[in-house]
Amino acid sequence: MKSLVDRLGQRALFGLDPETAHGLSIAALKSGLPLARRSKADPRLATTVAGLALSNPLGMAAGFDKNAEVPDALLRLGFGFAEVGTVTPLPQAGNARPRIFRLLEDAAVINRLGFNNQGHAAAAARLAARARKPGIVGVNIGANKDAEDRIGDYAAGVTRFAGLASYLTVNISSPNTPGLRDLQGRGELKTLLQRVGEARASSPAPAIPIFLKIAPDLGESDLDDIALEVTARGIDGVIVSNTTLSRHGVRSARRAEAGGLSGKPLFSRSTAVLARMRERLGPKLALIGAGGVDGTEAALEKIRAGADLVQLYTGMIYAGPSLAGTIVAGLARHAEKEGLRSLAELRDSHIAKWLATPID
Ligand SMILES: Cc1cc2nc3c(=O)[nH]c(=O)nc-3n(C[C@H](O)[C@H](O)[C@H](O)COP(=O)(O)O)c2cc1C
Repeated sequence: MKSLVDRLGQRALFGLDPETAHGLSIAALKSGLPLARRSKADPRLATTVAGLALSNPLGMAAGFDKNAEVPDALLRLGFGFAEVGTVTPLPQAGNARPRIFRLLEDAAVINRLGFNNQGHAAAAARLAARARKPGIVGVNIGANKDAEDRIGDYAAGVTRFAGLASYLTVNISSPNTPGLRDLQGRGELKTLLQRVGEARASSPAPAIPIFLKIAPDLGESDLDDIALEVTARGIDGVIVSNTTLSRHGVRSARRAEAGGLSGKPLFSRSTAVLARMRERLGPKLALIGAGGVDGTEAALEKIRAGADLVQLYTGMIYAGPSLAGTIVAGLARHAEKEGLRSLAELRDSHIAKWLATPID
């Protein structure tokens, strides 16, 4: 159930344009106000993935805290980890406003932000200032729109943040930077992951896990290629997925806005791609499921489809700041009810169902 803060907050925020509302949410988190009740840690939710010891498997997805302003406040909301970014080497304004749209009837959002962010230096300074604090904080790295050497921008991100983050995410799946998704093709991906691997090896943290974040708009043979390169280049895990260009099942008139769609209508497609990645990568590689997670049942289903960890963003826009705590408490109740020692026991149990769900 939504708390009073959630209901009052949502009414106020939904009266504003989405980007102004987002700015207010960041300000509220920065202020240190207790926006949600903290859930109790439950040992059955604790998990170690790619060497990261997490108190629970639910994370804040990239894009909410683009400039690493509030990772600790996000962890206080109940998330087991927080991913900041996408950060690009140079500050970047992004696309013209308006560039975020709520699709209320669909519990979805379309955004075409285009990696608006304050650049590496600003995020690195904030992360350095919290370096001694506990908590898993990942940094999602990208390339500037007009970079001459896009792959070089990713290598620079690894060099810059390896010593400041718990893990890094190589994000090549934003639909809002023209040509970026081409890096998912086999040839470019190989070069990208090689350079990223070299940058990690010569960084101050050569053992830091690196994840690759992919789009949901990929066919079976694209997924084959990505799985092969991820395995061959020593990438530690894959985040499935970013936003989609598809408008399948979306009713709102806003569906015509250009950009990436997130939220409820993305759940099925992103979960079907997640299961396909699990099938290709085998049981050991880390998989993080994102796309349309709006409650405990959706989070559980990502795990059953093959995820070790789960992330959300759009769900919190609709449900408010108590969503993370609500889901984490729900996961603990589920583990209790089913007599599980660890939630990881559920992993892959619905993989066949999701493999049978079409992705085109
Ligand atoms: C407003 C907005 C901004 C986003 N910005 C980023 C970003 O900078 N980098 C990134 O990797 N993903 C970004 N995402 C994608 C989310 O991290 C996530 O992968 C996607 O929205 C699916 O999850 P959801 O349905 O729970 O929102 C953004 C999503 C939204 C809604």
